[in-house]
Amino acid sequence: MASRLPRMEHPRVTAAGFPLIRPRRLRTTPAIRRMVRETRLHPDQLVLPMFAVDGAGVEEPIASLKGHSRLSADLIAARAARAYADGVPAVLLFGVSDTKDEEATASHDPDGAVQRAVAAVKDRVPEMCVITDVCLCAYTSHGHCGVVVDGRVDNDPSLEILARAAVSHADAGADVVAPSDMMDGRVAVIRQALDAEGHAETAIMSYSSKYASAFYGPFRDAAGSAPGFGDRSGYQMDPANAREAVRESLLDEAEGADFLMVKPAATYLDVIRDVSRASDLPLAAYHVSGEYAMITAAAERGFLDERRAALETLTAITRAGADLVITYYAHDAARWLSEESA
Ligand code: PBG
Repeated sequence: MASRLPRMEHPRVTAAGFPLIRPRRLRTTPAIRRMVRETRLHPDQLVLPMFAVDGAGVEEPIASLKGHSRLSADLIAARAARAYADGVPAVLLFGVSDTKDEEATASHDPDGAVQRAVAAVKDRVPEMCVITDVCLCAYTSHGHCGVVVDGRVDNDPSLEILARAAVSHADAGADVVAPSDMMDGRVAVIRQALDAEGHAETAIMSYSSKYASAFYGPFRDAAGSAPGFGDRSGYQMDPANAREAVRESLLDEAEGADFLMVKPAATYLDVIRDVSRASDLPLAAYHVSGEYAMITAAAERGFLDERRAALETLTAITRAGADLVITYYAHDAARWLSEESA
């Protein structure tokens, strides 16, 4: 919203020397502050990420992601049900796999951990929105997000495998597939494959501007997906670039994406603002593992009040223009927000 404050040549002070304009009047009571609040974070905006492993009754805590574990499908479903009951409408599921090869074959295994987790959540809480991360890095022997040819991540051969993975997630019942690989053209190829396999209603949430960020560290521990050689800067975006994020986003919109995403979130608020103004698609922002770990680690040492720091951060992300926030705080934040409004 543009500022309507008139330009002032002199400070507005009464003849008696009192301020003429007192913004603090709008901060005097809790009720007034509630009335003039410009951004309202609501549990409907939150998406909870979870990590799926094979087996039953398996719970492996992730040291760097406080309160989060790698879970087998049965426990994913139970935890998703609790989050849904507390107001979180959606989960984002990641597969973790020990089966790795050059072609990421396990990424489209109908019996894979993520495919089984999708089915388990859909069985237990059919109303919940199930989003799946579509990428190859947890399934390739080298840990890159695409197929490697002559030491380089090769775009076009990766697309077909990504599309097969996306279709396998839709076959399992996913409502939304979220490609996070950053290969060119993958949204169009995935859309085509979903439509051809009878999944015209499955939506695509594109990780449209995903940066080559240092803040994915804890995630890579959790998913066992760190690259075995080099880094991801040949496909993920340079943190210095913002115009490029708008270009990537508009391309994905043109290719048929239903949602766009900016990732990470808290250090990319300007990008969230730019993309939210450039496209009318719903925009998600991913408050990533390292951003979560920064708050939890500081709070553990008594440096920060965790709840306030977390809600302030999530509010800032929505204030910047995100419609949805994917966050490891989703369940906590939903509870905190309902306590506040009670
Ligand atoms: C897979 C993927 C990553 C994240 C989401 N999908 C890791 C990466 O690109 O290395 C990061 C999420 C987080 O840090 O919470 N490509």
